[in-house]
Amino acid sequence: MKILIVGSGGREHAIGWKLSQDSRVKKMYFAPGNGGTAAIGENVNLSVDSIDDLLAFAEKNNIDLTIVGPELPLTLGIADKFKAADRRIFGPSQHAAQLEGSKAFAKDFMRKHGIPTADYNVYTDAEEALRAAENAKYPLVVKADGIAAGKGVIICENYALARDALEGMMNAKRFGAAGNTVVIEEFMRGTEASVLCFTDGKTMKPMVAAQDYKRALDGDLGLNTGGMGSVSPAFAFTEAAESVFIKTVMNPTLAGIANMDYKGVLYFGLMINGSDVRVVEFNARFGDPETEAVLLRLKTPLLDIIEAVCAGELDKVDIEWSDNPAICVVAALDGYPGKYKTGLPIEIGDTDGVQVFHAGTALKDGKTVTSGGRVFAVSAMAESLDAARCAVYNALENITYEGIKYRRDL
Ligand code: AMP
Ligand code: GLY
Repeated sequence: MKILIVGSGGREHAIGWKLSQDSRVKKMYFAPGNGGTAAIGENVNLSVDSIDDLLAFAEKNNIDLTIVGPELPLTLGIADKFKAADRRIFGPSQHAAQLEGSKAFAKDFMRKHGIPTADYNVYTDAEEALRAAENAKYPLVVKADGIAAGKGVIICENYALARDALEGMMNAKRFGAAGNTVVIEEFMRGTEASVLCFTDGKTMKPMVAAQDYKRALDGDLGLNTGGMGSVSPAFAFTEAAESVFIKTVMNPTLAGIANMDYKGVLYFGLMINGSDVRVVEFNARFGDPETEAVLLRLKTPLLDIIEAVCAGELDKVDIEWSDNPAICVVAALDGYPGKYKTGLPIEIGDTDGVQVFHAGTALKDGKTVTSGGRVFAVSAMAESLDAARCAVYNALENITYEGIKYRRDL
């Protein structure tokens, strides 16, 4: 079987690594891939948003299955285009991807289907939004409706900050068209957990939960990032929380997506407070860096699950997980999530016992160099979290490049 994986992060390397263990997989292509995916497949120089070119590549090379990593191609309708051309693809339709692509769409979906989430209102008029913020309780959360590279959510402690956030989004267009519409919502307290679910639109099967460490610095300080690491299981996602999640969140969501042509992964960002489980956000894809920890724990062949999803037969597979915990620590570049230097040489020494998933790396004259803010996702599973953590931090000691930076408190 020939597989095309769209994306270039640690997530895509982890998906490819898992599939590379399957003898049915004869060849993998990554578009555009990174320095690590080049070792397990072939990188194709196509960007994730060049949908027509990706389809033409899949047709020309007789790709049997395309797996979409990031949200951008999904929100641009890659799944619809591939399906119209009779090409098998793992990822939701453009309509369904609005669950991630538009916060107003996601919140209205939750309200309609009775899914617990923060109270909210949607605004397209700046004056009206400012008046609402003036009379609101604080802290208050202001969100740009569209995709804003993870920066479109601002938690405001007081009206002055909310006013700056709203004016920046709606008048100064800090996030372009993504801020034409805003969501203003109540601040939720609790602990977050990410629960990624496989779904074919009729059946939904949760993966083991993970906790994402979003802040740049130890102690959950510093700026929000794409994710500096993850741990699975997520300790806030207790058995009690899980049964509340299934009943009040997952099942109503499944009912809501019934007519949306959803075949892929639906990611629930949850806020958990005892047995109170509410949705912070949906993503229409595998999470990054959750995937780099979660897939280590998957015992069932990933290809079996993905093929069942595409065939609408997810009910027929039993998905098995290891009881062992897993951890992923992201090695970033100094400066990330702001400005950083790229093109720096990398030396990798002994990394036995861990998986070194590449993210922001590239090959230059046969050598691996840095190419993005998050360089590696180093992951391990072991009988205890301490043992897994120890293996990852030992391996990180043997990865060398200028400006290496990672959290030491996971
Ligand atoms: P989102 O892009 O919607 O996931 O938001 C990014 C992050 O902002 C979330 O992971 C939370 O940490 C935080 N956040 C978003 N909405 C809320 C909320 N209503 N209450 C508390 N924290 C929130
Ligand atoms: N780890 C958060 C995300 O994938 O959006």
